[in-house]
Amino acid sequence: MKQILMIDVSPRGKDSASRAVAETLVARLTVLYPSARLIRRDLAAEPLPHLDGITLRAITTRDPVEAEQLQAAARQSDQLTGELLDSDLLVIAAPMWNFGVPSALKAWIDLVVRPGRTFRYAAGEVLGLAKDKKAILVLASGGVFTEGPWRPWDFVEPYLRQILGFIGIVDVQTVRVEGMNIPELAISAVPKANKVVEELAL
Ligand SMILES: Cc1cc2nc3c(=O)[nH]c(=O)nc-3n(C[C@H](O)[C@H](O)[C@H](O)COP(=O)(O)O)c2cc1C
Repeated sequence: MKQILMIDVSPRGKDSASRAVAETLVARLTVLYPSARLIRRDLAAEPLPHLDGITLRAITTRDPVEAEQLQAAARQSDQLTGELLDSDLLVIAAPMWNFGVPSALKAWIDLVVRPGRTFRYAAGEVLGLAKDKKAILVLASGGVFTEGPWRPWDFVEPYLRQILGFIGIVDVQTVRVEGMNIPELAISAVPKANKVVEELAL
């Protein structure tokens, strides 16, 4: 393991359940892989811009002349995709907001899911270019989504698995921190998730 990329999303600092569990994971990874470089992207502390017109053109154009002119606009996407492509493990720690991912995480996704960098089309097929990587998702939610009536409302884990698979990351493990808005579950949700982290195959 040479490089780990960790994406933190919640703006709730020390109150954040996803961050608390992700810290347990980082502690384990640091012991297991002491020489791995850990890159942390805190999307709450340093939010990324939504895609604007010029960046969109810059990261999608195939015209080499235009691409040269648009190089500056593509720089942030270049850096983010570079971080991802150079990493062996991606960790995303995120809350569920309105049954989906917070827009801060969507902004990161929009900058790294990029034709010619992290995926391409070949003979009508999609080819993920972010190969030989693993991902771990640490997902906090107020309700319970792994079972019961709210299961179809989970647009976080299915979406993240699908979009990571699209760019070639198919080895994905998930740690759920569920029931944070249900007092009798909230009390044990973080310790329970920490236990899952301790047992993850890393
Ligand atoms: C803006 C907002 C929207 C939320 N939407 C949902 C939701 O749709 N479903 C749910 O189960 N919990 C929802 N929650 C609760 C959070 O998922 C829960 O508090 C979780 O612990 C947040 O992760 P964090 O502790 O890492 O910040 C929402 C919380 C906020 C602040």
